[in-house]
Amino acid sequence: MGCSSLVVALAISLALLCHGSQAQLSSSFYNTTCSNVSAVVRAAVQQAQSSDPRIYASLTRLFFHDCFVDGCDGSVLLDNTATIQSEKDAVPNNNSARGFNVVDDIKTAVENACPGVVSCADILALAAEASVNLAGGPSWSVLLGRRDSTTANRTGANNLPRPFDSLSMLQSKFAAVNLDDTDLATLSGAHTFGRAQCRLFVNRLYNFSGTGSPDPSLNTTYLATLQQSCPQGGDGTVLNNLDPSSPDTFDNGYYTNLESNSGLLQSDQELLSTTGASTASIVNSYASSQTTFFQNFAQSMINMGNISPLTGSSGEIRSNCRMVNSG
Ligand code: HEM
Ligand SMILES: *[C@@H]1O[C@H](CO)[C@@H](O)[C@H](O)[C@H]1NC(C)=O
Ligand SMILES: *[C@@H]1O[C@H](CO)[C@@H](O)[C@H](O)[C@H]1NC(C)=O
Ligand SMILES: *[C@@H]1O[C@H](CO)[C@@H](O)[C@H](O)[C@H]1NC(C)=O
Ligand SMILES: *[C@@H]1O[C@H](CO)[C@@H](O)[C@H](O)[C@H]1NC(C)=O
Ligand SMILES: *[C@@H]1O[C@H](CO)[C@@H](O)[C@H](O)[C@H]1NC(C)=O
Ligand SMILES: *[C@@H]1O[C@H](CO)[C@@H](O)[C@H](O)[C@H]1NC(C)=O
Repeated sequence: MGCSSLVVALAISLALLCHGSQAQLSSSFYNTTCSNVSAVVRAAVQQAQSSDPRIYASLTRLFFHDCFVDGCDGSVLLDNTATIQSEKDAVPNNNSARGFNVVDDIKTAVENACPGVVSCADILALAAEASVNLAGGPSWSVLLGRRDSTTANRTGANNLPRPFDSLSMLQSKFAAVNLDDTDLATLSGAHTFGRAQCRLFVNRLYNFSGTGSPDPSLNTTYLATLQQSCPQGGDGTVLNNLDPSSPDTFDNGYYTNLESNSGLLQSDQELLSTTGASTASIVNSYASSQTTFFQNFAQSMINMGNISPLTGSSGEIRSNCRMVNSG
């Protein structure tokens, strides 16, 4: 190999290295050791939905909250112990993240099919794909081979994106895990299903940022509905549909809502309504093409799933998703 092609080869390897360890995940990772794992996870997810219509949304969110904290490593699933400060108690998760019992049920089904082989981190990735697809959204080939952490990061979980964050804060939290504006605008479309509690957007309804008035970017008709659901000083835990037009269906309704100034969270509406927002044109393109949204959503979920996984001999395959292995 000549000197210049050596330089080119080096540059390519460096570029791959800098882009993270995603090359190590593979859709055929469990090919010989648990070839039916996708079907087993999908069946367990579907089973759970029959008694919990919200579970597709909740499982999809768990994958996000796992990946954004030290990578997709199952850390969000760990319970408190003498040495582990559970991420479940962090502000964005406490009395909010849900679906942990269902993850246990999926893990049991997977362990029955192939004991000791499939990580909890991969179960979250598979459960998110199954959930999105079963709710009417796209399917994609999930990259696998993640291993489970032996630690949690409460501080990291407290730093998860907040509904009160500015668009530039959201952009910087996404950029910190190598996700760009397209990923931000696209993954936020997961708010096409599931619920949000009044306490997470009531700041928009009566006295926004100390102005004495509601958030001006909130549709007045929708505002009246939300004020009914969330009276001033009322119960902050009351649930509201993130996408009132189709609460449990994965479609592009989130983006048409934003065009009607009817995003539920401040962080939702900012994607379109912030002056000069670089995400606005992406929102509009998804509002006019569900096909484009679905294609990009699949790609952005793969991108999010590539956030610094543990691979090879790092970490472990937990036998119980709630605790590190004792041995
Ligand atoms: C852009 C930054 C984001 C912020 C600030 C944010 C914030 C929130 C908040 C405040 C809730 C309501 C929680 C509650 O009421 O207890 C929520 C729910 C939800 N989020 Fe996000 N989120 C963001 C991005 C994402 C991403 C990237 C995904 C997945 C790809 C996602 C999926 C969901 C789902 C599906 C729900 C409903 C969960 C359920 O019903 O159990 N979110 N989010
Ligand atoms: C295993 O993976 C390879 C690609 O890595 C694929 O060609 C093959 O069809 C897979 N086998 C099964 C049984 O899925
Ligand atoms: C794969 O798992 C599904 C769901 O549990 C089951 O219905 C199917 O029979 C399994 N297929 C094989 C080949 O084991
Ligand atoms: C989590 O919420 C519970 C109320 O359900 C509260 O007692 C507890 O202090 C909260 N945990 C943290 C760490 O704030
Ligand atoms: C935990 O998360 C914080 C905030 O994201 C980060 O600065 C820190 O390095 C993480 N700690 C570990 C041990 O990974
Ligand atoms: C709105 O909030 C600001 C700052 O917290 C406060 O000074 C003001 O009195 C409030 N206005 C109303 C109408 O409640
Ligand atoms: C408010 O929402 C209604 C119902 O979706 C819609 O018809 C109207 O155009 C919206 N108004 C604005 C200013 O976006």
